[in-house]
Amino acid sequence: MNNYTNEELKVNLTSNEYDLYQLLLTYQQDKFLQQIKDIKQLKQVLSTLNDFNNRYPGGIDAYITTAKKLLLDSKQGSNPYAKYNISIPSIARNINLSKEFDFYENILLEQLKNKNTPQLAFVLVAGGLGERLGYNGIKIGIPYEILTNKTYLEYYIDYINAFEQLHADTMTKKCPLIIMVSDDTIELTKDLLIANNYFQRQDNIHLIRQDGVPALSDNNASFILDENTGEVIMKPHGHGDVHLLLYQSKLAAQLASDHIQYLCIFQDTNGLAFGALPAALGVNYQDHLLMNSITVPRNVDDAVGAICCLTHQETHKKLVINVEYNQLSSLTGGKEECVKDSQGNDTIKSIYPGNINLLIFEIDGYLKALTRSNGLIPEFINPKYSDNERTIFNKPTRLETMMQEFPKCLNHEESNRVGFAEFPRWSSFSAVKNNINDALLKQKKGNKPESPATGEFDFYNYQRKLLKNSGVI
Ligand code: UTP
Repeated sequence: MNNYTNEELKVNLTSNEYDLYQLLLTYQQDKFLQQIKDIKQLKQVLSTLNDFNNRYPGGIDAYITTAKKLLLDSKQGSNPYAKYNISIPSIARNINLSKEFDFYENILLEQLKNKNTPQLAFVLVAGGLGERLGYNGIKIGIPYEILTNKTYLEYYIDYINAFEQLHADTMTKKCPLIIMVSDDTIELTKDLLIANNYFQRQDNIHLIRQDGVPALSDNNASFILDENTGEVIMKPHGHGDVHLLLYQSKLAAQLASDHIQYLCIFQDTNGLAFGALPAALGVNYQDHLLMNSITVPRNVDDAVGAICCLTHQETHKKLVINVEYNQLSSLTGGKEECVKDSQGNDTIKSIYPGNINLLIFEIDGYLKALTRSNGLIPEFINPKYSDNERTIFNKPTRLETMMQEFPKCLNHEESNRVGFAEFPRWSSFSAVKNNINDALLKQKKGNKPESPATGEFDFYNYQRKLLKNSGVI
């Protein structure tokens, strides 16, 4: 854009476009702007960025300011957990699938008996690219097992139908299902719903769409142009967008005013997601939890995040939150504590439960915290550098959010209402996210393969175990 004078820009751009252009200059986006060839392309780019500016809380200002700060922290190798001590969360329930499961499920049933409206809404995050799986379609459209060829989505909806039927005496309305989609998944998700006539639930299915955020090419948070399309490169902002969209679409507020009490947020390919749900909801009731993470036992080297209690060394504020497995060592000093056997020797079991991103929120508390944060939960950045000085990126980066980081939006009192309920892995968690070759490598290393075949196997295993536990086989 070197050829255009300020006067020419003023003539060719609307005042809104011109202001945005000036804002970009303020944030040293000159290098990016200079690559734009003509006014037509500039208008196109400004239109995309204007849309982003309007929907992102705090606009481009806030995005670049946060990105620069986090990029500097990352360049300096700062430890985000430097001021925290780690311990096991105190609100914890370990649930064995016999006695305790019935106990907590009965608490739920007792509660439901006293109400006439549906208590629960389901929120499915299904905007991910699924690059590791490499499936040529959306993940919720994959057949979960090949006896019936029912897709993941169909299984989830079957469960919701069954849940409603079980509580038919007390529920007057259906449980809403909200599906978060992205540019990459929206069309195929709509196709799947239409092909199945919305599973006869059209009035109760809501789609919310997440949009990308500008990709960043350097520590100065410079935006980038796509060489082929001439457009700004936008990248996924992560599944933490589910909170932002529930807030911005006003759906969370709508659900609360429709007397929904709990939101169950789950991922696209965990077919066992609802195995633990009735008892986990009972735990929510029993402990008055605002946020309950369903967890499974984890081994010390599992590639699964850990739910920990982090206590700030100065404020003493406690945070019960997921710590990603590759960050745990910055809190444990590299030696994660294990469960001891009867002789006092270390086992391979970690003392911290494994997060499976199956979250249950009590809606009033959720909405309050959501409103306070404008739906945006604290972001992180994860650039991969190609030089020792940490100035050159291997590929563009961007700010991202994770839905399990919600406790960061809670105040001191609310933080005391965050807990977890641990269930056996076979009953609650079997993700499908790796292609067959990577799955094989993982299995050889002793990790969970998390492939379509193991997902299907775990489904049969779950059914067999339930039948066995009930004395049928
Ligand atoms: P994953 O971490 O498995 O990521 O997402 P992914 O994008 O689906 O797969 P890869 O990393 O490209 O292989 C966990 C869950 O979060 C959703 C996914 O659809 C999945 O249910 N997700 C992820 C979103 O909804 N939006 C995102 O931006 C990212």
